Amino acid sequence: MSEATARDIAAVVELYETTEFANDQSRLIDFAQNKLALTSLQVLPPGDLPSKDPRPFLGLLDRALSEEIRNQVKRDAWIDTVGQSGQVEIRIKLEKATLRFVAPRGQIYASNSHIFLVWMVGTSLVLVSAAVVLLRNQIRPILRLAEAADSFGKGRGFPEDFKPRGAREVRQAALAFVEMRDRITQHVEQRTTMLAGVSHDLRTVLTRFKLELALLGDAPEITALKSDVNEMQHMLEDYLAFARGDGGESASVTNVRELLEEVHEDALHYGPDIVLESGRRKRDLLVPLKRQALKRAILNLVSNAARFGDMVVVRGTADRAWLSIDVEDDGPGIPAAERANVFRAFYRLDHARNQDKGNTGLGLAIARDIARSHGGDILLEESVLGGLKATIRLPV
Ligand SMILES: Nc1ncnc2c1ncn2[C@@H]1O[C@H](COP(=O)(O)OP(=O)(O)OP(=O)(O)O)[C@@H](O)[C@H]1O
Ligand SMILES: [Mg+2]
Repeated sequence: MSEATARDIAAVVELYETTEFANDQSRLIDFAQNKLALTSLQVLPPGDLPSKDPRPFLGLLDRALSEEIRNQVKRDAWIDTVGQSGQVEIRIKLEKATLRFVAPRGQIYASNSHIFLVWMVGTSLVLVSAAVVLLRNQIRPILRLAEAADSFGKGRGFPEDFKPRGAREVRQAALAFVEMRDRITQHVEQRTTMLAGVSHDLRTVLTRFKLELALLGDAPEITALKSDVNEMQHMLEDYLAFARGDGGESASVTNVRELLEEVHEDALHYGPDIVLESGRRKRDLLVPLKRQALKRAILNLVSNAARFGDMVVVRGTADRAWLSIDVEDDGPGIPAAERANVFRAFYRLDHARNQDKGNTGLGLAIARDIARSHGGDILLEESVLGGLKATIRLPV
């Protein structure tokens, strides 16, 4: 549109300069006002154009117009779009005169910005609502997948009605996850069945062994043999427990306080004083846990503590996210550099007191396995009692 106006102006300039219109100004004015789309034309005496700068209001569109005029007319031009609303004043400097044009603004640019705004805001609103609806539908399956993975990771089983849904990529991820879960479950089952077989066979043999020894009487060699067989049985149980992990036990809602009391009772025969402390919490804490497995993990810690210390404290605390079970003792503790190693299977420290037989170095490895199968872990620190503080941390 700027271009059309610029062409009109160029035509008038050309007429004025090259034809007799220069002498018949009223005809030229009449021509410009009636034949061309210009509101008015004035022929002013020659002179300088008003100064150009500064004109901060010269917008993008006005700049487009002045560009066009420069291209088409190739003369000094001056544009003022501020003075008169709805009109644009253009002055062109010629040798013999200055031409002053006034053109309607609407003819130069289409300034329907309000319609543009309405459209933009309207379509954005529509698009945003569509996006929100679509995204919600896509996010729901991702959340379901996250929940399922979380629950499976904490050993709490898998939602029965879980089905891959949503966009292709999300379904793909969910399918891959389901396959992985199946593989893991199958793997664990295979291992458990095999171990059950092995343990059964070996136990039978050991029992036979013990019976035969019992028949042989009480000679010193035989007593020694008996204690070896007992030790062997103990170790066998340990290996099997380690290899079995949590034995495929499934999580059931467990009262943590009751569980700790049970542990306390079972641990009383270890010898040292075992003190049970529970947090300030009034209400009982109910958490889905593999009860037998967790009990075994705590007992492993307590048996270590009782072996090395003369006093053992077992403490259960919980906050919003974590359940912590501390087992502290006043023994020699474990140096910081060794704390990562003791979790390795069969690893035992060279404590002077660690001469007891029947320890295989699997207790902590088993306990950590169990904590991890609940989505938690075991931390070792120095206790205020002077010995070791082992903490089982489980997500609630
Ligand atoms: N409370 C503790 N104080 C000092 N040292 C400890 C303590 N608990 C464990 N340890 C050290 O860590 C080692 C590994 O412990 P872990 O329970 O895994 O095996 P273990 O007690 O030797 O054998 P198992 O538990 O299989 O009978 C122990 O041999 C011991 O040296
Ligand atoms: Mg142990």
